[in-house]
Amino acid sequence: MALNLVPKFTNRSLLLVLVLSMTTFSGIASGSKEFKETNMSMYLHDFISGPNVTDIPVAGVAGKLWTFSQFGSFYVTDNPLTEGPSLHSPAVGRAQGVFVASALDGLSALIVFSVRFTNKEYNGSTIEIQGNSILMEPVRELSVVSGTGKFRFARGYATCEFYSVDTPAGYAVVRLNITVEHR
Ligand SMILES: *[C@@H]1O[C@H](CO)[C@@H](O)[C@H](O)[C@H]1NC(C)=O
Ligand SMILES: *[C@@H]1O[C@H](CO)[C@@H](O)[C@H](O)[C@H]1NC(C)=O
Ligand SMILES: *[C@@H]1O[C@H](CO)[C@@H](O)[C@H](O)[C@H]1NC(C)=O
Ligand SMILES: *[C@@H]1O[C@H](CO)[C@@H](O)[C@H](O)[C@H]1NC(C)=O
Repeated sequence: MALNLVPKFTNRSLLLVLVLSMTTFSGIASGSKEFKETNMSMYLHDFISGPNVTDIPVAGVAGKLWTFSQFGSFYVTDNPLTEGPSLHSPAVGRAQGVFVASALDGLSALIVFSVRFTNKEYNGSTIEIQGNSILMEPVRELSVVSGTGKFRFARGYATCEFYSVDTPAGYAVVRLNITVEHR
């Protein structure tokens, strides 16, 4: 597009401005080529009750029970992440953050958490995830909004799906897949 405009300009300073602006654009374009795409899949261990509970309600509407499906219930969460579905498989890191029942009908929650890596490959780096999670949906998609360390400038998306649920034990394993573009 920009190249087609060049013959119309006779004034040299205008041409110079055009050339300079084209240089700037090509600079941005070559910078964006440095982004790489990474896919990963890991398992999140969610203990909603018992001695090792990982989701704790810390605030809610006065006079109501603070539960997943009660509008206004605010939880803090810190879940182990592992390579495989077993809690004893090698650790990847922790998913640490908050979520709040953000739908009046109690059907969805706003989730904001950091994936804090402790494995060899990404130790110390983080991926920041946020989104609206519909509780009953088989696959919940969240957005990757940023990252640190190896994931600087990250953006992408993540999916959460139940892998196994043990209702009496209050224990669920969730598969977390993340696709990110990053530097
Ligand atoms: C990541 O996964 C997406 C969706 O399955 C796929 O389209 C893409 O090619 C994968 N990228 C890499 C680098 O494996
Ligand atoms: C709770 O965590 C402790 C220490 O890691 C572990 O020994 C115990 O088996 C866990 N209990 C349950 C019910 O998962
Ligand atoms: C990750 O980094 C911490 C702090 O630098 C270090 O103590 C730990 O051994 C590292 N873990 C791995 C798996 O490299
Ligand atoms: C997550 O990744 C696993 C392994 O690559 C794949 O089998 C599964 O279908 C993915 N889940 C979603 C919701 O894309």
